[in-house]
Amino acid sequence: MVVIAKNCPDIEVEVVDINENRIKAWNDTNLDNLPVFEPGLSEILIDVRNNNLTFSSKVESSIRNSDMIFISVNTPIKEKGMGAGETSDLRWVESCARLISKSARGHTIVVEKSTLPVKTAQTIKEILDSSTSNNSDEDRTFSVLSNPEFLAEGTAINDLVNPDRVLIGGDDLEAMNALKDIYIKWVPENKIIFTNLWSSELSKLSANALLAQRISSINSLSAICEVTGAEIGDVAHAVGMDSRIGGKFLKAGPGFGGSCFKKDILNLVYLSRFYGLNEVADFWQETVAINSWQKNRIYKEIVARLFGNLADKKIGILGFAFKENTNDTRESPAIDICRNLLNEGAFLNIHDCKVNEKTIDKDLSSKNLFDKNMWAHKKDVYSVFEDAHAVIFMTEWSIYKTLDWKRILPIIKQPFWVFDTRLILDPNEIKNFGLNIWQLGNGMNK
Ligand SMILES: NC(=O)c1ccc[n+]([C@@H]2O[C@H](COP(=O)([O-])OP(=O)(O)OC[C@H]3O[C@@H](n4cnc5c(N)ncnc54)[C@H](O)[C@@H]3O)[C@@H](O)[C@H]2O)c1
Repeated sequence: MVVIAKNCPDIEVEVVDINENRIKAWNDTNLDNLPVFEPGLSEILIDVRNNNLTFSSKVESSIRNSDMIFISVNTPIKEKGMGAGETSDLRWVESCARLISKSARGHTIVVEKSTLPVKTAQTIKEILDSSTSNNSDEDRTFSVLSNPEFLAEGTAINDLVNPDRVLIGGDDLEAMNALKDIYIKWVPENKIIFTNLWSSELSKLSANALLAQRISSINSLSAICEVTGAEIGDVAHAVGMDSRIGGKFLKAGPGFGGSCFKKDILNLVYLSRFYGLNEVADFWQETVAINSWQKNRIYKEIVARLFGNLADKKIGILGFAFKENTNDTRESPAIDICRNLLNEGAFLNIHDCKVNEKTIDKDLSSKNLFDKNMWAHKKDVYSVFEDAHAVIFMTEWSIYKTLDWKRILPIIKQPFWVFDTRLILDPNEIKNFGLNIWQLGNGMNK
């Protein structure tokens, strides 16, 4: 919405959220307190906030005054009931649709921006249309469009300013053109594509499934590298030079995270099973299975090298976000790996460039498994090394690539292990300091 406001000064953009604390944070004059960290976000926000972009909790009045409404609410995986652990919980989408159906006036274009299971637009349409038939006093009509968001966290602003494509799905050409008229202000016309609603909804799930599958593919190959003497960086480079494959998104690591990949694949799996396509479902399910396996095998590699015992050992954790340049920890591989290490009795010193202590606490202590005296949040990156027996590079923050190892050597315990799950270190440099290193996908590991 910030990018729309910036490129369309003639449009009034109102962001509304039922979470008042979030709205307060979006209105905070201290830009360090924004709820989301994204490079470049605060610079644009400061330009448009309280000009043509406002944040408020006045959901109903905002709906009443809007010609176009983007539904961008959370659609996490269902926790209970039918489809639990498999398909999206649509309660927030449905409640938005009900509120819109009650509060909208005149003709309103409703845009699905949230990622949704295929055919959700039908549900939204039915809820909206039911209100038009019930209220004869009000002449209200709706058009429903699908406009999935393809941005990646960490590069969101650039992805929005220079998108690979903007996808608009619908069956009402006038409404589709109205949405296109917004994007055309900064996106080249040939990158704005029209499809029907179902192709648009399915394209978003498919894009995330294919991206996640690439990560699981390269991660499965990283394990083969370790046992055969190959190096995953070299393999990725060599295969990525094939123009049919391409070099992007071929970086091995501890597994994909973020709120979307797992959820969107699980939705695809659920959809496939629903239509009896069990082989298709099994195929995509394996992408998620490899991701869990990768996290688990890293944890086992760590324990094995620390003599099978983590009790009374201090381990430094560098990075908690699921990737660099974000403060998002949803589905971060660091959570599962840290939980497993805590379960072995290790004490963890955790540093992250943008994730705060409160978030780490929420992620680690859910289900009351671990209490706060088994880990500490460190603001200074070097303090994670104090009396540590090992350090694990979990997130690829750039400051971790240029640590001053001479400063670290006097404060660690020997023998000391470095675990590089992101391939950001030069193993020879680490070995030259007399330290042990295990690097993901490196066939020269001990
Ligand atoms: N985060 C991403 O990188 C990303 C990328 C592409 C697509 N998506 C999709 O976008 C959607 C939102 O993702 P997110 O990460 O921003 O989720 P989020 O949980 O961070 O934010 C959703 C917000 O919606 C608010 N909300 C819920 N119900 C509401 C209602 N009835 N009225 C007003 N506000 C309401 C919540 O309070 C919350 O602040 C999801 O469907 C996700 O799959 C996210």
